[in-house]
Amino acid sequence: ATERTFSIIKPDATRRNLTGAVTAMLEEAGLRVVASRRIQMTREQAEGFYAVHAERPFFADLVGFMVSGPVVIQVLEGENAVARNREVMGATNPANADEGTIRKVHAESIEANTVHGSDSAENAAIEIAYFFKPEEIVG
Ligand code: CMP
Repeated sequence: ATERTFSIIKPDATRRNLTGAVTAMLEEAGLRVVASRRIQMTREQAEGFYAVHAERPFFADLVGFMVSGPVVIQVLEGENAVARNREVMGATNPANADEGTIRKVHAESIEANTVHGSDSAENAAIEIAYFFKPEEIVG
């Protein structure tokens, strides 16, 4: 079924001027960008967004990284968009990512891993609503 997922092009990618290259890979995977905004995330936004990881040892570094430069937040739409996006992103750790995936091609490390993507349709809905108003999403 057609569904939506939430994507972030992270600071390592904006710093290297890769927002177009990453978006092209998403589009080539059959995903459609139905909302997009470049923002400087605040510390409060990043902490809230990653609240499920609050107890993890990498949480402070993760938040620091996500506010270290601009990000591009996007809503992606397509057939099985959550799974399709996870496929084209590749594994969280680029060392484990398949050839041709965004993280294999572009990521610098497990932290500076170029993109975030929702891990389920349920979380996609929560993450989309965290950053976008319904009228900002135009399918
Ligand atoms: P993301 O999909 O944005 O969700 C949480 C992020 O934490 C993850 O991508 C990684 O970039 C980051 N991270 C940093 N260190 C780790 C780690 N050891 N294990 C998992 N995620 C990590």
